[in-house]
Amino acid sequence: DLPSGFSQRLIDWQRQHGRHGLPWQGSRDPYRVWLSEIMLQQTQVTTVLGYYPRFLARFPDVRALADAPADDVMALWSGLGYYSRARNLHRCAQEVVARHGGVFPRHSTELATLPGIGASTAAAIAAFCFGERISILDGNVRRVLTRLLAFDADLSASAHQKRLWALAQAMLPPVPAGDDMAAYTQGLMDLGASLCHRTRPQCEICPVQPLCRGHAQGQPTRYPVVTRK
Ligand code: ADE
Repeated sequence: DLPSGFSQRLIDWQRQHGRHGLPWQGSRDPYRVWLSEIMLQQTQVTTVLGYYPRFLARFPDVRALADAPADDVMALWSGLGYYSRARNLHRCAQEVVARHGGVFPRHSTELATLPGIGASTAAAIAAFCFGERISILDGNVRRVLTRLLAFDADLSASAHQKRLWALAQAMLPPVPAGDDMAAYTQGLMDLGASLCHRTRPQCEICPVQPLCRGHAQGQPTRYPVVTRK
């Protein structure tokens, strides 16, 4: 018995109150979306804003990036940190050219075989660019969904992670309709990054508070349960 109306509430909230107008949001180009998702993995939006446009100007498409000397890629990444991301980015571009004719694959399962693209990043790219019905499940989204569902099984066990993943899939918008998957995916990210805070969630203004079981119990911050990391 999953709460009903979650996806529509989240989509409506994202369209009204979520983040808009970021340079990677106007695009369904998987190259642009991929680049933004890799930069955003361990780096704040405000920092990424200082790098993303320069990087795109120098490497406007996946072939330009694949063909560039590694030193040029590292130079434009310099300051963003976690440099294995830049090395994988370059390798990924080269694989997209060599294995896929310079066209990013359209399915999350194929995207996840490329260097530096994990399951959640693959899901984000496929949902944003191709409307695939696939849920992201990064740390922020885990927090949102475990609170919503009062999911109290320990996520240090992979069987419980799998169960949460199946629930995340069951919460998706019902049918692929227009840009719903993009708005929904961005909504999950935005809710996790803003209102559904780790220690001080702003439940009073949360669009899904009426459905949230963690809130109904009076202790949303009990979730997620993770005993070891
Ligand atoms: N973090 C990871 N992906 C993001 C996105 N698309 N927008 C904002 N923050 C993010």
